[in-house]
Amino acid sequence: PDSAARDDDGRLVIAGVDAAELAARFGTPLYVTDEAQVRARAGRVLDAFGSAFAAVGASVAVYYAGKAFLSTEVARWVAEAGLNIDVCTGGELAVALAAGIDPARLGFHGNNKSIAEIERAVSVGVGTIVIDSRIEIDRVADAAARAGRVQAVRLRVNSGVHAHTHDFLATAHEDQKFGVPLDDAADLVATIRDRAELRFLGMHCHIGSQIFDAGGFAESASRLIAVHAELLTDGDVPELNLGGGFGIAYTAADEPTPIEQIAAGMAEAVGAACASHGIPVPRIAIEPGRYIVGPAGITLYEVGTVKPVEVDGGVRTYVSVDGGMSDNARPALYGADYTARIASRVTDAAPTLVRVAGKHCESGDIVVDADYLPGDVRPGDLLAVAATGAYCWSLASNYNHLGRPAVVAVRDGAARIIVRGETEADLLSRDAGIPLPTPAGTD
Ligand code: LLP
Repeated sequence: PDSAARDDDGRLVIAGVDAAELAARFGTPLYVTDEAQVRARAGRVLDAFGSAFAAVGASVAVYYAGKAFLSTEVARWVAEAGLNIDVCTGGELAVALAAGIDPARLGFHGNNKSIAEIERAVSVGVGTIVIDSRIEIDRVADAAARAGRVQAVRLRVNSGVHAHTHDFLATAHEDQKFGVPLDDAADLVATIRDRAELRFLGMHCHIGSQIFDAGGFAESASRLIAVHAELLTDGDVPELNLGGGFGIAYTAADEPTPIEQIAAGMAEAVGAACASHGIPVPRIAIEPGRYIVGPAGITLYEVGTVKPVEVDGGVRTYVSVDGGMSDNARPALYGADYTARIASRVTDAAPTLVRVAGKHCESGDIVVDADYLPGDVRPGDLLAVAATGAYCWSLASNYNHLGRPAVVAVRDGAARIIVRGETEADLLSRDAGIPLPTPAGTD
């Protein structure tokens, strides 16, 4: 990430803090997040979309998609940058509330919110709830009636546009669990409008994640505006939520379009579609997660073993580290690529092709499938893996009874823990088969 640099001795320094010092102080594996970068990226999204849509006469609300990585600190950073927060479970809601975020600034998502979750969201005064199915209309309305409130809601629709990195696919129907078909929107919105406890804000659509260009967003936005225009004939529709999904670079091969260009492309598409339907441009909302926290995160690991393995036509060097799929499930889940560097020293050794593996009992436990590291990479080296700020901690597990690593925030040369790592005692503390020790002083 932008914030990591080499010092004069070639050691990696993150936001003014030596990576080796972080590892010595907090242990490895360790998630490190650059606080200033998270704040700056949040501000950049707000500026990019704010000015792009101002050009077509619309304002923009940015919701940080907490699923990418949510802790009370991160919630405060993005809220201080002017963002709202999108949560999709009672657990994420609890974190945002614990951070002291004004509930009116929260959006609540999910294709299967429990009734208890809906009741809690309504009763704490969550700003918007995204309705994901016909069944949920009554669930949310009934909860609002019980709480004596009027709840603002969005309706999640599928525009039929599916985007993945460079390409997008546009179909009439989508075979997936989220949202409702765009064709059903008018009928469902009428049902929402029939319930006095609900206030319809507008449609919501999320076309995918890690998207590199504006084409899919633009196509989706034009389809949505056509339906939005129809809905306007029967009542107010103040808003349109275009979701998140803006891509980031994980390796040097990734070249995402700058967010300013994506924003401009989306604004142009929305502006043109509204003009062609003769309607005003609605207020716009977006929900980026990965873009804000992904590039600000680095994971530090210590190399434990180095093992050359003969493969067809050569040797593959397996470099095993002290974490793996429990702290970063993305390579195993999605075949995701990452880049690793030795953080603790520089060397002139010629580069060698390596596979960085974890310590789990599973051959798919890979951190970096293929990358070059100095040929003298050895046990004790500290490895830094870039762009691990999104969907790593949030997807972490305790596989093989590894505790989830701590998350440390670095800023201006100082480091502090923002999420404590799990210890063996933490893991054992949930095992009901262990007799509880008698508390001291009670006998
Ligand atoms: N809004 C909705 C409704 C979403 O479902 C998501 C992500 C986002 C916003 C934020 O998308 P982002 O800007 O972060 O791309 N675990 C996967 C990604 C799953 C994304 C799920 N939804 C990964 O690690 O690549």
